[in-house]
Amino acid sequence: MDGVTVIDHPLVQHKLTLMRNKETSTASFRRLLREISTLLCYEVTRNLDLTMIRIETPLQPMDSPVLEGKKLVFASILRAGNGLLEGMLDLVPAARVAHIGLYRDHETLQPVEYYFKAPEDLANRVVIVVDPMLATANSAIAAMDKLKERGARNIRFLCLLAAPEGIERFRTAHPDIPVFTAAIDSHLNEKGYIVPGLGDAGDRMYGTK
Ligand code: PRP
Ligand code: URA
Repeated sequence: MDGVTVIDHPLVQHKLTLMRNKETSTASFRRLLREISTLLCYEVTRNLDLTMIRIETPLQPMDSPVLEGKKLVFASILRAGNGLLEGMLDLVPAARVAHIGLYRDHETLQPVEYYFKAPEDLANRVVIVVDPMLATANSAIAAMDKLKERGARNIRFLCLLAAPEGIERFRTAHPDIPVFTAAIDSHLNEKGYIVPGLGDAGDRMYGTK
């Protein structure tokens, strides 16, 4: 699928299976999400641009690569996005963090915005938006609309599970934003849940149901 990368690394797939299992405890689910986010971060940052700088090793001067441009921004769609954030910050500790507060109304499946805080200069940074679930894509589309409104131009979206319907809607709304996911599931059910999925990511992370 154009613009969509499925991260099929064996460790990612193994951990995802454990997360899907309804017998997995809240504590294990949270730990697995943190672990898997580090692996996903590695893939979503794979083609970042590098630039050469002059350094001196203990033996001699050399030109060596570092990440080009300003610090990355990781943008978490609350609240489940926070589960991916910590593991990613382990890999890129200097990244800036944006928080986008959205929840989906259970009846209408429309996103309700309650918070937004991001670095000022989004236009000059690569922004990686994280949320474990891409279901109808209403939340992700609203988050991207908001980030673009605030100037972001170079955005990637990272999730754990996506529904085919959500990918289709997301790519139509934001064809410039590549999607990275660990799996594309079968379909959405009548309540807008991903099937077979893993249930409600926020509830499973925080034990709220
Ligand atoms: C979940 C998930 C996404 C959204 C996906 O969040 O973390 O943000 O649903 O669904 P969509 O693609 O149909 O919009 P939820 O609204 O349950 O909020 P929470 O993270 O606060 O639990
Ligand atoms: N949000 C979730 O947390 N899970 C789904 O399956 C769909 C939306």
